[in-house]
Amino acid sequence: MRAALLLILLASHLPAQEGPTTPDISLYLQGRSVFEQQCSPCHGRTGRGDGEWAKDVPDQPRNFRSGTFKFRTTPPGFLPTAADLERTLRTGISGTMMPAFTQLSDHDLQSVLTYIRTFSPRWKDPANYHLPVPLPDLPDWFQDPASLQTHATQATPLFQAMCATCHGPSGKGDGPAAASLIDLWQHPVKPADFTKPHRKSGPRPQDLYRTIALGLDGTPMTAYHTLLPPETIWSLVAHIQSLSHP
Ligand code: HEC
Ligand code: HEC
Repeated sequence: MRAALLLILLASHLPAQEGPTTPDISLYLQGRSVFEQQCSPCHGRTGRGDGEWAKDVPDQPRNFRSGTFKFRTTPPGFLPTAADLERTLRTGISGTMMPAFTQLSDHDLQSVLTYIRTFSPRWKDPANYHLPVPLPDLPDWFQDPASLQTHATQATPLFQAMCATCHGPSGKGDGPAAASLIDLWQHPVKPADFTKPHRKSGPRPQDLYRTIALGLDGTPMTAYHTLLPPETIWSLVAHIQSLSHP
């Protein structure tokens, strides 16, 4: 009896698995109007990423018809959570044309997210939804410059072995495979240049951890969470950070 109560209490603190919803019509219409004013110049009226501002830019606006997203806390191949999409909208994607929508009201934000979820049938299938992968807390050694440097150096051979083919030996994004990489949407995609300050994933070490662990769907940047233990991923994060301020 007590155990059951405890379980219920615990369960109420766990994030609930999201799933398909039938959008409220007024939210949908509001979302369409926000989308047409604020998003369609880049993402295109029909969500195909072909708006008039999308021509000749290196990082193409997302085509929402594929239902594939880069910035997720869910495992590779699954849809992002509502919180993932909110984070992308509020912080933008650094170094690309995707702006940070800091002024959008919460209601407009929810409505436009409701609207973009209607572009791909993937949002209708419960099998495409997943709970976020629990990600570890930042290790204490990140606060200690000497220890941070040790971990960054320790990760050098691993970076050279597993990452340099694309990201290049000094992390400039110029590895031997870099020139020929194509994304899911048939556009050339460059590996991140770690000597530049911009990070698409976000500014925190935790954001880089998430990307190395879970990958960027639709790109050759695959997930490493089943291959590398957390401590190794944190060392790679330290290594990447050391490349932008040696
Ligand atoms: C000035 C151009 C521009 C505008 C305006 C714009 N976006 Fe984007 N957006 C982009 C670009 C470019 C990317 C892709 C960046 C990349 O993948 O490197 C993107 C990517 C995205 C993504 C994909 C994130 C992922 O995980 O893959 C979402 C979601 C998104 N935009 C939503 C919106 C919404 C909603 C609006 C309007 C409120 C909007 N964008 C307005 C340029 C724009
Ligand atoms: C097959 C090529 C390939 C390999 C191997 C690879 N990456 Fe990537 N990586 C990419 C590409 C391409 C991107 C950029 C995707 C984009 O911009 O949409 C990227 C992006 C990233 C980012 C995101 C940077 C940002 O701007 O937020 C991180 C972090 C990263 N890679 C780390 C690593 C690490 C660490 C390894 C080795 C364990 C690795 N990558 C191996 C191709 C690769």
